[in-house]
Parts: sequence; C-alpha cells; structure tokens
Amino acid sequence: MDYRTIDWNDVWKDLMSAQKTSNKEVENNLWNRKDNAERFWKRTQEFSDRTRLTLEELPLTPQSRVLDIGAGPGRLSIPVAERVAHVTAVEPAEGMRKLLLDNVAEKGITNLECVSKRWEDIDVGNDLNGPYDIVIASFSLGMPDIREAIQKMEKASSRHIYLYWFAGTSPWEEHSINLWSYLYGTNYTCGPKCDVLYNVLYDMGIYPDMQVFPMEYTNNFASMDEAMDFFRSRYAIETPEQEAILYNYLRDELSWENGSISERADSTRVRICWEKKQNN
Ligand SMILES: C[S@@+](CC[C@H](N)C(=O)[O-])C[C@H]1O[C@@H](n2cnc3c(N)ncnc32)[C@H](O)[C@@H]1O
Repeated sequence: MDYRTIDWNDVWKDLMSAQKTSNKEVENNLWNRKDNAERFWKRTQEFSDRTRLTLEELPLTPQSRVLDIGAGPGRLSIPVAERVAHVTAVEPAEGMRKLLLDNVAEKGITNLECVSKRWEDIDVGNDLNGPYDIVIASFSLGMPDIREAIQKMEKASSRHIYLYWFAGTSPWEEHSINLWSYLYGTNYTCGPKCDVLYNVLYDMGIYPDMQVFPMEYTNNFASMDEAMDFFRSRYAIETPEQEAILYNYLRDELSWENGSISERADSTRVRICWEKKQNN
C-alpha cells in the first residue's frame, strides 16, 4: 500500500460524518441546552487544574489579541480575557453562548466579543476582528472539513495556533459503543482523533508540537432521575424500551457511594500547537 495516497482530510470527513449520523448527541444539539452548558461549566470549575495548566502554557501577554473558537461557557475565554487586551469568542450553540455572556457580565469583562456562528460559516475578513496573536480551538473541532478549518485559522492568526483534541476512545464513546446496538440496532462509529489530525497537518506542511495529557473528572448526580435526564438527552431516548435499556446500563455502570451517584470520565487529551510560517 502506498500510504502517500491516503487523503487524511477525507478520513476526517468520513469519520466526522459517520459519527454525526450515529451520534444522537450532536443531532440533538447538546450544547444548545442551557442545563447541559451549566453542568459543563460547573464541572470545569470543580476540576480547574487542567485549565490552570492550559493558561500557563499559552503565550499570553497583556497586549495579546486572542481568538477562542468554540469557546463554550468561557472556561478559557474568561480567564484569558482577564490577562490580555482582547478576546473574540466564536460560539454557535445558544445554551453555551448565553452562559458565556452571563459569565462575562458577572465578571465585569469588557474586552470580550462573541460571534454566534459555526467556524465553517465564519468569513474571516467580515466576521472577525483579526489578526489574532493566538488562535485557540479547544475540544471544539467538530468541523466537517478540518483542512479548510485549519486554513481559516491560519488566515485569522498572525502567529500561534493551539488546538486541543482527543487521543483514544473517550469514556462517553465507550458508553455509545456499549449501548448503540441495543438502542438502535447499529454499531457506533467514533469520531476522528489526534492521529488523523496530525496527518492532515503534516500533509499541509505543518509539523506541530504535541503533548499528551490526562483529563480527569467526575460527573455527579443527586439521583438516578438526574442521571437519566442527563444521559437521555445525550442518547435521544424516545421509547420505553430505550428508556429501560439506558436505565439498566446506567445502574450497572455508574458508581454508587454513600447515596451519591457518579460517572468517572477520565480521558486522554492532546495539545497540538505551532507557529504560523510568516510567508503564509
Ligand atoms: C466541549 S465544548 C468546549 C468548550 C471550551 N472550548 C473548553 O475547552 O472548555 C465544545 C464547544 O465547541 C463548540 N463547537 C462545536 N462545533 C463547533 C464548530 N463547528 N464551530 C464552532 N464551535 C463549535 C460547541 O458549541 C461547544 O460550545
């Protein structure tokens, strides 16, 4: 086999589209729901060590202008805005965006603007206020054409690009793999990981730094009803049969300790960063 004939962007496209087809979570616009956004925000505030390490590794200065693509409720955008001159946060999902704007108002931040579009729909010249010293896309690469998305990031950046993504199967994908055939009678396809991303970048002539790190957190639920509410929206449960399958699965999979219910969701993540070639 001639490995040079593999188009890694096509591999990304295929896996992304297969995942979107099977992934009820994406179809259901998980991040449009404010309760899901709030749960995400609460968890990131409880498990803040990783955010602290990320802030330490970003080359932020008081003069920096930063673009945060898929900013969510502001886990990075908010502390970054407190350290730099300007942040543009791109966030298409309503639930996440509303929470981001609430958080911005609550902290009295005045140097952050929010653009409510998907990255693939952004026109760098018209929608953004570039160029940006640092472009960040943190766990937000749910983009159909990753090569085009990276070309746009390079266009928006004057120097640094920091991507954060996944290595290996995530815990929520493990659940999907276990549940899919029972819920839907089909196999679950996982999304593209950092191996595909690295190859796309390599084929674009970009040889980035990569660092692998663990991300550990626990999802806590006050009751089985609360756990069912959370997972029901993730798996688009519609019928009583699906409800029973999910209930039985969660009863066996979740940890029960002293009356509290939790899901350990440890995963392996990766930071991929590079400096833009100045003649690009
Ligand atoms: C898991 S959250 C990560 C939030 C934040 N970047 C962080 O690291 O905490 C993923 C976010 O990416 C956003 N997102 C997903 N696909 C996107 C796209 N194509 N363009 C822009 N944002 C996207 C989602 O709306 C969601 O808010």
